[in-house]
Amino acid sequence: MRYHPHNRHFLFFVQPDYEEMSRRAARHLHAKVRERPDLLLCAATGGTPTRAYRLFAESWENHRREVSRLRVVKLDEWGGLPPGDAGTCEAYLREHLLGPLGVTPDRYLGFRPDAPDPAAECDAVASALDERGPVDVCVLGLGVNGHLGFNEPGPALHPHAHVAALSRESLEHPMVRHAAGAPLFGMTLGIGDILRARSVLLLVNGAHKREALRRLITGPVATEFPASLLWLHADVTCLCDADAAEGL
Ligand code: F6R
Repeated sequence: MRYHPHNRHFLFFVQPDYEEMSRRAARHLHAKVRERPDLLLCAATGGTPTRAYRLFAESWENHRREVSRLRVVKLDEWGGLPPGDAGTCEAYLREHLLGPLGVTPDRYLGFRPDAPDPAAECDAVASALDERGPVDVCVLGLGVNGHLGFNEPGPALHPHAHVAALSRESLEHPMVRHAAGAPLFGMTLGIGDILRARSVLLLVNGAHKREALRRLITGPVATEFPASLLWLHADVTCLCDADAAEGL
């Protein structure tokens, strides 16, 4: 089933379940890398894209050379977690994307979770992204509160990489439920970095995302619901599962 709620720049595809959503996402990413072997992939972490990353990595198993130029930038990171903590976005990306695809350090850009000066770290990521960017494909998950990365709902949004105060929803995120300590802040690419990406792949699954997806589809474009800014983007593909899309 396919929706065309407002325009042809924002396509929704509803897949029967998480597995099918992930398969389609993996195929989408695979095709993008075939088109542009040195593609700069901006990668969200969290529960949503895990299976898609696994299938994407598997899809290159017998063609590793063809993916040997892929570049990755980490969308965001928790600040204040002990280095090496399993809850960090770094640990997640190493396990699910960088390791399986053999992404070498020169092809990877990411906030260090234990950076001594987080604001300087964000500035460094912003300048590196200026040089290497823009992002070609930005893989995003949808926060239950509408956040993208740690661009949290509020009266204003920040365009570039920045240190972010975490919302209650982020502090309760499953990724950090078992972390050694509570994160103190976030470091995230900004909404401008996301909007400058050549294309966006937004993944949404599960009944707990239903209300957020409904707001995304029906609501106004407003900083109080950052994902709604994606309506300003020229090339968004949103893949969701039937649980998330139920009733829409
Ligand atoms: C994680 C990130 C977050 C998540 C969002 C959804 O890197 O940027 O914005 O994408 O909170 O999280 P999950 O996928 O766990 O539901």
